[in-house]
Amino acid sequence: MSTHLTVHVGLAHTQYDITIFSSAESSENSHDTQLSQTSRILDGLQPVTHLVVITDEIVATAHAEPFVDKCRQHVGRVDLMTVPAGEASKCIEQASRLWQQMLDAGADRKTVVAAVGGGVVGDLAGFVAATYGRGVRFLQVPTTLLAQVDSSVGGKVGINLPHAKNIIGAFWQPAAVLIDTSALSTLPDREYRSGLAEVVKYGVIMDEPFFEYLSRNVTEIMDRDPQSLRHVVSRCCQLKSDVVVADETEVTGRRAILNYGHTFAHAFEAVGGYGAILHGEAVAIGMVCASRLAESQGMVPGGFTDRQINVLNAFDLPTTTPDYDRQQLLAAMQLDKKVAHGKLNFILPKQEMGSMVLVGEITDDQILAALGG
Ligand SMILES: NC(=O)c1ccc[n+]([C@@H]2O[C@H](COP(=O)([O-])OP(=O)(O)OC[C@H]3O[C@@H](n4cnc5c(N)ncnc54)[C@H](O)[C@@H]3O)[C@@H](O)[C@H]2O)c1
Ligand SMILES: [Zn+2]
Repeated sequence: MSTHLTVHVGLAHTQYDITIFSSAESSENSHDTQLSQTSRILDGLQPVTHLVVITDEIVATAHAEPFVDKCRQHVGRVDLMTVPAGEASKCIEQASRLWQQMLDAGADRKTVVAAVGGGVVGDLAGFVAATYGRGVRFLQVPTTLLAQVDSSVGGKVGINLPHAKNIIGAFWQPAAVLIDTSALSTLPDREYRSGLAEVVKYGVIMDEPFFEYLSRNVTEIMDRDPQSLRHVVSRCCQLKSDVVVADETEVTGRRAILNYGHTFAHAFEAVGGYGAILHGEAVAIGMVCASRLAESQGMVPGGFTDRQINVLNAFDLPTTTPDYDRQQLLAAMQLDKKVAHGKLNFILPKQEMGSMVLVGEITDDQILAALGG
């Protein structure tokens, strides 16, 4: 019985499939499912003579090594390269080390890079794939919920400079995305819930029925029920794909809707300091603030923000602004503005879910009111 789902990403210059399955669901043939999906992808990429699998130290044993074993049944040479876990690995030193390791391993233009891990590994390995030998093919094998619903789709890859996240990078689409929702079984609760904030975001910005589905299926989703996870992940991939196809390189502005709640969220992350608050937690609070801002402008009906608060709370996500200095938060948002060389714009809902607009000229007082508390 095949229970995999496929989302096709059809861009003007390239296309690829995102395959979503749950290897642990069918106990008897779980390895077959994983093996057959992996081999199907690799067969579709022929000729693959050399595969470089990039992962981090936490994901290596449980996920990357079994993946390497499967790939060895199809590809003559497979090399596993490991970086330390965490955001700090998205740096030029790790990229440089990987380039050198690839050179030492005899990588050439036919080499395929596979990223097995969360968004950090995906962004870093994708950047290395985009730049080694002026670009080699690459596979995304995401293992966090955030990576499965967001970072592995859309082709943004890159690394950080010490004070600027994602400032060095490329648009480099994967040749395929292979998503095993069973990989999430080892993900810590807090990381899992953090990913759910981006899931809720898709509902608000693009798909009210999906938002309603999330509200009705909290228990199944919190339990990581395989069927619910396949539905959630594939729906999010489809929605992200729709945005990316409409605006691959951020020219038309459509892709900006994905930043709903993120102007606030980035300020919480900056002021809280690394590790104090996870990205998804910051996004959960940021969406509530953005929605409150829209509500105060009369852009959405009363109760609009409460609906989001209810779902986010049901997923055990925070929804109130932390006790951070308000002036510091404002300053952090202004800094974001400087980096963007533009006005402080907010992506806000208008009238109903699935309808978003870009609003500029928001005053500090309005922002302070939206922060609440
Ligand atoms: N390219 C894009 O479009 C895009 C979009 C959103 C976010 N991002 C980037 O993604 C990164 C965040 O991604 P993330 O949240 O996945 O963080 P992450 O990659 O750091 O993963 C979080 C933690 O979970 C561990 N982990 C991963 N999979 C696991 C599993 N199955 N079981 C147990 N532990 C596991 C990792 O080792 C890490 O410690 C940021 O750098 C962000 O900039 C990129
Ligand atoms: Zn985000």
